[in-house]
Amino acid sequence: MTLSKLLLSSAIALLAVTGAAQAQDAKRGEKLYEECVACHSKDRGAHGIGPALHGVIGRKAAELADFRYSPALKRSGITWNTQSLESYIADPQKAVPANRMPYAGMPEARDRADLIAYIRAAMK
Ligand code: HEC
Repeated sequence: MTLSKLLLSSAIALLAVTGAAQAQDAKRGEKLYEECVACHSKDRGAHGIGPALHGVIGRKAAELADFRYSPALKRSGITWNTQSLESYIADPQKAVPANRMPYAGMPEARDRADLIAYIRAAMK
């Protein structure tokens, strides 16, 4: 590949990424939340297999006193925001090795962006 072709394809890749980040669709995200809802309630204190996600944006990871988190998530030092949720949802084991969320990850950037838009809107 020549340098100019390489530059062109990275520019296109970058456009694809920013395009996905802009076109957030919380309605679509609500559908995608079906992948999470079996374990995560949106209601404060209503923990299931996973902790309730009410108020998760801006919260420190593993902060709720009445849920038993893994030592790995407690040690992670993460604060949940768009960026940290993005990498955790993409690949939980890569983002926080040895955490105990039994979820394989959501591969599509657009899906993650929509899901996070929904979480931001619905879990205040
Ligand atoms: C099969 C159950 C399960 C599924 C499905 C699941 N999770 Fe989890 N989740 C957990 C568990 C258990 C933990 C706690 C992990 C730990 O302590 O290491 C967790 C932790 C989390 C946390 C950290 C919360 C906190 O208080 O720090 C977030 C954020 C989260 N999950 C988001 C999601 C999202 C978004 C989805 C859907 C894409 C999802 N999870 C799917 C079980 C699940």
